[in-house]
Amino acid sequence: MNLKDLYINFFVEKGHKQIPSAPVVPENDPSVLFNTAGMQPLVPYLMGQPHPYGTRLCDYQKCIRTNDIDEVGDTYHHTFFEMLGNWSLGDYFKKEAITWSYEFITTVLKIPVEKLAVSVFKGNEFIPFDEEAYNTWLSLGIKDERIAKLIDNFWIAGETGPCGGDSEMFYWRSDEPAPDVFDPNDERWVEFWNDVFMGYEKCEDGTVIELPSKNVDTGMGYERTVSILEGKMDNYLTSIWTPVIKLIEQISGLNYDGNEKSMRIIADHMRTAVFISADPAGIKPSNTDQGYILRRLIRRVIRHIKSLGIDINSNWDQLIAECIMDLYKKYYSELTTNHDIVLEVLANEKIKFNRTLEKGLREFEKIVSKLDNKVLDKDLAFKLYDTYGFPIELTCELANERGITVDRDGFKEKFKAHQELSRTASAGKFKGGLAGNSEIETKYHTATHLLNAALKIVVDSNVHQKGSNITSERLRFDFSCDHKLSDEEKIKTEELVNQWIKEGLDVKVEEMSKEEALDSGAECMFIEKYPDIVTVYTIGNNISKELCGGPHVKNTSELGKFTIKKEEASSAGVRRIKAILEDN
Ligand code: ALA
Repeated sequence: MNLKDLYINFFVEKGHKQIPSAPVVPENDPSVLFNTAGMQPLVPYLMGQPHPYGTRLCDYQKCIRTNDIDEVGDTYHHTFFEMLGNWSLGDYFKKEAITWSYEFITTVLKIPVEKLAVSVFKGNEFIPFDEEAYNTWLSLGIKDERIAKLIDNFWIAGETGPCGGDSEMFYWRSDEPAPDVFDPNDERWVEFWNDVFMGYEKCEDGTVIELPSKNVDTGMGYERTVSILEGKMDNYLTSIWTPVIKLIEQISGLNYDGNEKSMRIIADHMRTAVFISADPAGIKPSNTDQGYILRRLIRRVIRHIKSLGIDINSNWDQLIAECIMDLYKKYYSELTTNHDIVLEVLANEKIKFNRTLEKGLREFEKIVSKLDNKVLDKDLAFKLYDTYGFPIELTCELANERGITVDRDGFKEKFKAHQELSRTASAGKFKGGLAGNSEIETKYHTATHLLNAALKIVVDSNVHQKGSNITSERLRFDFSCDHKLSDEEKIKTEELVNQWIKEGLDVKVEEMSKEEALDSGAECMFIEKYPDIVTVYTIGNNISKELCGGPHVKNTSELGKFTIKKEEASSAGVRRIKAILEDN
């Protein structure tokens, strides 16, 4: 049976109610980007609010920690992991928590006591030595020399909030016999479970006060415990990962041996990207907050896909994501509900980054070959970000591989200034220029984009916009074309526009640098007229992509019926269409 099921069954038998895993993006806590521990969604209840499921809870919780993102590539760091937990909200305390931990480890997981060691809180200026935890472990048969008393055994999620002394459990992972005396600094002792006795709250002013109720918060690292149970030193060789690694081997035609780092990064980051994209919060790759983490993860994956020689344009992203969703869908229903969204997010970001990756890498090589010293300055780092979409971390990673340092602080300053500019651009005159459009004029704007796209398909891919004029009565569209449109061309164009309207395509708006917009294939009439940061409207799956001040409807289904009223010459090589929209 899967460890998750064993754990839940065990604690349900001990009177706990299973609660569902909360989304990875916290629902009511803007202070963190992601849930980093099983207890995070439970903070209000640990602070005293009654929980609807009662006072004994257990779950498996999706967690994301990105502070160690650069460490991923070794045998055990992950950006996403699952944490198994059981909680007492003012119900049982140390004795029961420790006794059940011991029982689960030794009888369910059947880990021999000889391979176990534990630590307890030694005490500090606020809170005394945890004698009760120490005595409980002794009473269960853990020898004194296998119980370390540590000052660091104090757990808190961030700076403030519920906290307390904790007791950690360690497994001896080595072929050599476990030493009698537990040395917490010996890395062969691997920590896999933590029982926190949350009897306190740390306040803003640094003081620690007692909580009204004594709680227990425990967290068992799922991937680490599976690696222990399966006797693997490398987490990626456990049953959690082998289907994904095998698939990457298959796609690349390479062996895991010798390519571990790239394959681990791909596997780890893809799993995290899948869970972020599937989250009900609807996160999409962007340049801020969770969206930026998602973008960074996907872009780092793409670089490693490339380094393994996989064709970036192939469907590797879809295959790996499908494999991951298959492995986890039994436990996380959002992977089924949001299956298509996940695939779309990955495909779109892949297309977007792929357009500039090659050029960016070439530019990077050019830049570093010209460096006099081993420092890449802020302007160059910013150029890689702004023009080629390289997250700063990617630039740093590439630079690091060549022994070059990047002026990250300088970059940060430049980045901030750029954000200010971008805000001014979008709030200011540029967008305002088209403000005051009526609802019908807004519809005509979107219809114009569809008409432009349809003409390219029906008439000639070289059709370009030469002019546009919109009133509340009609749209007028001038475009380059060397002949009068035939009736068939007009009908087909009309039909195609109406088909897209019927399909109810989403109209997406994004802000990006002018270069990025052009590189992404977005159309525009007079590039020099646009500010550095532009707005790009995309309809459906890239049916139309144009630089435009907007405004546009949110979905093409709002447009009604589209009819071409007139097609005539405008000037040499330019034709003009007048068309109307009517309610269906
Ligand atoms: N909240 C505790 C931890 O994450 C259990 O280690």
